[in-house]
Amino acid sequence: MRKLPDGLQVGVATAAFQIEGGWNASDKSPSIWDTYSHIPGKIKDGTDGNDTCKSYEYYLRDIKMLKFLGVSFYRFSISWPRVLPSGFSNKISEDGIGYYSRFVDELLANGIEPVVTMYHWDLPQSLQDLGGWANPLIADWFEDYARVLYKTLGDRVKTWITLNEPKQFLIHGYGMNRFAPDIVSPGIGDYMAVKNALLAHARAWHLYDKEYREKQKGTIGITIATDFREGASDSPADIEAGNIAMDFEVGFYSHPIFSSTGGFPERMIKRIGDKSAEQGFPRSRLPELSQKEIEFIKGTSDFYGFNHYSTKFYTMDKYKNGTFPVPSYEDDMGVVGDYGNYELAPIIHTTKIPKGIRKALNWVKDKYNNPQVLITENGYGNFGGVDDFDRIDYYSDYIDAILDAIEVDGCNVKTFTAWSLMDNFEWDSGLTPKFGLFAVDFEDEKRTRKARLSALWYKNLIADRTLGS
Ligand code: NOJ
Repeated sequence: MRKLPDGLQVGVATAAFQIEGGWNASDKSPSIWDTYSHIPGKIKDGTDGNDTCKSYEYYLRDIKMLKFLGVSFYRFSISWPRVLPSGFSNKISEDGIGYYSRFVDELLANGIEPVVTMYHWDLPQSLQDLGGWANPLIADWFEDYARVLYKTLGDRVKTWITLNEPKQFLIHGYGMNRFAPDIVSPGIGDYMAVKNALLAHARAWHLYDKEYREKQKGTIGITIATDFREGASDSPADIEAGNIAMDFEVGFYSHPIFSSTGGFPERMIKRIGDKSAEQGFPRSRLPELSQKEIEFIKGTSDFYGFNHYSTKFYTMDKYKNGTFPVPSYEDDMGVVGDYGNYELAPIIHTTKIPKGIRKALNWVKDKYNNPQVLITENGYGNFGGVDDFDRIDYYSDYIDAILDAIEVDGCNVKTFTAWSLMDNFEWDSGLTPKFGLFAVDFEDEKRTRKARLSALWYKNLIADRTLGS
């Protein structure tokens, strides 16, 4: 039996494209995920995001489920093309913004605090047609979109998350053909886009900080995928393999914002920052940040939004002297490299490794001077069934490890967010993986939901504030 610390708030999360459906309702325009999921063969199980959980239609039911669980907050995202059908702020959709406005009102009326992700991967297709995240103008477009959200919802929304998991949507979307927009430009398109995304995020933060913070009194930050990567053995080489993997996969996005120096991690600069000439490129593939840009991005997050699912182990054993331009960088098989110099062959674990979350929280604490951390996602996917003891087991052990991080190690964790409230559209894997506390019947016209055992368990955890009863 272990009590949850007083300051720790417990909630659940979803994202617009994964649950809303209503893909062409009213004046909504297509997002890149509508386009992508409509191309045959792209989604592994052949499903699409047209209807998913039908939350656009039945959103009051979602609120009942949240109420049932007793969560203090709900993290959900806003669909950019639903609010701004052209992608730009010249025309705000009344239906689109009205939907979110009503939703926020309902949450508040039920005592649930909205935690709003501004971008969870569903870029308006119209902006992709202009280059999307590979176009530096995205910083202007994102700032304009952010202003619309602050203006229309900021009186009631007090926690904003600018971008969800930049690594995932940039590396998978612009580096390899796994995610929309399906651009395969490994180490080039995706790396360019990282700089644009960091600047877009920083623009939205500065705008809030300058023009809205005082009046609206909210908090705003970014969510970064912080799965842990660690050496497969205690050998110095393997330990360094783990460190490299952390810097390439997490530090690339977090270091510019959260470190005291700003800019990209030292290991990345050393490994690829100056390789341009010998690799036949006019300039480094690590995007250049001017001192002004470094300063502009640094410190632009009021909290560290932390998503975590698992840990992978890396070894240097299979050192290969590859030659550029072999793009041997991280992919989901767990291979990480630095574009041609070598590959790190992994020992792969994607299953339950609770001590990894404690280590990842400590990594954030040690690197970035113990920032306030919102755990914005943690969860477990399986293939269904309502008697999900495996999920309960996962959550118990991970929360236990988080409590160690808080109570023993002094990590400054303020929220825990389960992914997900209900089964939903799991990107390129479609409707097959099940992450929900609630099961959704996707065969049923109404998308009936059923509480899993884990939902009951989570409800009790929240009510008793006790783990392991
Ligand atoms: C992280 C993403 O933010 C979310 O959209 C996804 O469904 C979960 N991981 C599970 O893979």
